[in-house]
Amino acid sequence: MATINDNYLKLKAGYLFPEIARRVNAFAEANPTAAIIKLGIGDVTEPLPAACRAAMVAAVEDMGDRDRFRGYGPEQGYLWLREKIAQHDFQARGCQIDPSEIFISDGSKCDCGNILDIFGNTNSIAVTDPVYPVYVDTNVMAGHTGPVNDRGEYGQLVYLPIQAENNFTARIPDQPVDLIYLCFPNNPTGAVASRAHLQAWVNYARAHGSIIFFDAAYEAFITDPELPHSIYEIEGARDCAIEFRSFSKNAGFTGTRCAFTVVPQSLQGKAADGSAVSIHSLWNRRQSTKFNGVSYIVQRGAEAVYSAAGQEQIQALISFYMENARIIREHLSAAGLQVYGGVNAPYVWVRTPDGISSWDFFDKLLHNCHVVGTPGSGFGAAGEGYFRISAFNSRQNVLEAMARITT
Ligand code: MLT
Repeated sequence: MATINDNYLKLKAGYLFPEIARRVNAFAEANPTAAIIKLGIGDVTEPLPAACRAAMVAAVEDMGDRDRFRGYGPEQGYLWLREKIAQHDFQARGCQIDPSEIFISDGSKCDCGNILDIFGNTNSIAVTDPVYPVYVDTNVMAGHTGPVNDRGEYGQLVYLPIQAENNFTARIPDQPVDLIYLCFPNNPTGAVASRAHLQAWVNYARAHGSIIFFDAAYEAFITDPELPHSIYEIEGARDCAIEFRSFSKNAGFTGTRCAFTVVPQSLQGKAADGSAVSIHSLWNRRQSTKFNGVSYIVQRGAEAVYSAAGQEQIQALISFYMENARIIREHLSAAGLQVYGGVNAPYVWVRTPDGISSWDFFDKLLHNCHVVGTPGSGFGAAGEGYFRISAFNSRQNVLEAMARITT
């Protein structure tokens, strides 16, 4: 009989969001008239920007024309998109990122998991707690962890607790770690990192030969002009960091699928014989072998994000969701709840009232208010006693959800 990857058996029962969906579906079946409002998974609700739609329609027409038709594109993505990204997202902020260092993909979640293909199996790996569960689960699948304990922590991972007292930023570890996952603006807490905090991480990584996986999927939601949007705004980061970016949340591409990973040419890892190897060339090799690129049509849609009209339209989308975040923050604070985040991030992180558990609060909101959020404990043991509310929904639903929760 064919054997399986036993590492999958170490995974906790279900991925967080399918587990939420399972509970919500069961409730909806038992209560068919309940008008459920979902502020759980961070999925966008507003239509795609007109500039992106027009570009994709034009690209469909290209595909219907013998002279403009495209077959396989470059596995790394079309140069015209990579150039725009390099220029607008990095060079304009003083980061020396070249288009050749950008790899277009169909999503940051996929990239975060796929990147492990090119790293060894004996690295020590640090994650914050709470954390976006994909970082942990993909390492479990790759066999980088021991079994899970009663607190839901996997052996061999280094957990860095993040708490309100330290603004939900992690303390730099005492021991050396090889791979470090950082996410700012943070999912799930909505916290942000100052330049000084990121500089401390970059210094640590350079001192220990570590690599930082920097997830910047929510950078567009930063409103404070002092905050860095990219790890490459930090001196020395080109030698120690990979950055993940996405069009999902800023341009509403969760269903359209387009993202990118930045791997500087100067980034190196160590081979078993001790020699230094270019991470960029390994990732290029991996992508060229296992990936055929994002569709031409979608890449044209992503390119339109950088047009004048596209920039204006995505700003309107971002402001719309951030106004939702403000409404959520204000209503919940006025109701006496302790809230964090939601100022430079589309997530509001709420302390559950009266010390009730995250899942009990989830059930209470679902049953009493017909509102869905995400239990903090689903993001890690240190998320127990917290609850995440996503600002991704229509204004009407956000107002209605707040009215139900606070009255
Ligand atoms: C979330 O709700 O945490 C996000 O939607 C997850 C994701 O983007 O994959």
